[in-house]
Amino acid sequence: MTVGIDKIGFYTPQQYLDLIDLAHARQVDPNKYLIGIGQQQMAVADLDQDIVAMAANAAEEILTTADRQEIGLLIVATESGVDQSKAAALFVQELLHINNNIRALEIKEACYGATAGLQFAYDFVSLYPNQKALVIAADIARYGLQTAGEVTQGAGAVAMLVSKNPHILALEKESIYQSQNAGDFWRPNYSQQALARGKYSEELYLQMFTQIYQQADSVISKESLAALLFHIPFSKMGRKALQTLKTKISDVDYQRLLSRFEKSIIYGQTVGNIYTGSLYLSLLSLLENDDSLQDNERIALFSYGSGAVAELFFGHLQPHYRDYLNATEHRQLLDERQRLSVAEYEAIFKKQLVTDGSCQLIIPVRAAQHYLKKVDQHERFY
Ligand code: HMG
Repeated sequence: MTVGIDKIGFYTPQQYLDLIDLAHARQVDPNKYLIGIGQQQMAVADLDQDIVAMAANAAEEILTTADRQEIGLLIVATESGVDQSKAAALFVQELLHINNNIRALEIKEACYGATAGLQFAYDFVSLYPNQKALVIAADIARYGLQTAGEVTQGAGAVAMLVSKNPHILALEKESIYQSQNAGDFWRPNYSQQALARGKYSEELYLQMFTQIYQQADSVISKESLAALLFHIPFSKMGRKALQTLKTKISDVDYQRLLSRFEKSIIYGQTVGNIYTGSLYLSLLSLLENDDSLQDNERIALFSYGSGAVAELFFGHLQPHYRDYLNATEHRQLLDERQRLSVAEYEAIFKKQLVTDGSCQLIIPVRAAQHYLKKVDQHERFY
């Protein structure tokens, strides 16, 4: 029996900011954003699309009625949680009409959270093969207007259904991981914006990748890699990590990984950093944009979450995996987004939900199946 990703859903808010417009407004050479950072656009979430709504929208796309009955574990991984106590997964469970006989919880460890979720899901399904696990990564990356991190913001959610004999990616049991207490990026409870030691965070990411890659030598060399995917806070970060291998692997292998890397960043370059979901958006981007991958090929995934935890794990593409993707719908979702002016983006960025217990109705900007309808008496209603 194999265990892994059976289906992948994706949602991103229906508004975006073009980073050339942002560059002009911030009096920066656009090539800094386009080449130096490696990003083109970023998704902008209005109040109606918080992480609960985005998570439900991403999962709605992939779940059949039978799936909803078979799910025994629901994990929402996020670092943009809507409550300090109650798990976002409980709102999502109700919105998706998932049965009550499940464990529903939220996981936090910066961008690594969904990888922890996926590993728990793997163990769960291995133990209870007749049940499925739903892991959703949902986040809104916020650094603040006119900050160094502003260009690396974004919003979106990726939902993964984990089952036995999966249709997309069968995961390998063995993985290599590391944790250490580091102050590269964090968000205090009282702040809506993340704080980052930007350059240090890049160094630590590269350092942990290099160490883990070395430690993983015997696992990596078992079978050649068709692709190596990265957590992509912005595409240049993944490119820098890949470049560390240039002198360590053959030119043939490097060129193959590089060409697959280019396909893996297509979605992320227009969505931005979606923290927990970024690695899985890279996976989706690769699978939906690369025609050269073959069934049964092996891919590696490098997950990094500031603070910091990193893990390298592996999977095999399943026969006919393309038949189980929703590439057309995902391209349409991205193509139909509305372009915001910088003034509109800034106005959305400054919007706040009431915190005094009064009732605030939220009018959704663009139609999405699930959205935040109101807050009332400090509670959210979808
Ligand atoms: P900055 O101050 O814009 O950096 O901050 P910079 O001035 O060095 O410019 C960035 C790059 O643009 C440089 O290239 C410049 O040379 C280049 P690099 O040296 O990096 O190769 N550049 C140009 N290129 C072409 N044409 C030009 C031009 N001008 C300059 N005209 C930084 C950049 C990423 C630090 C900032 O955006 C930031 O703080 N971002 C947030 C933190 C972050 O994303 N860190 C990534 C690693 S940590 C991580 O991945 C975890 C995370 O997702 C959170 C989580 O785990 O939850 C963040």
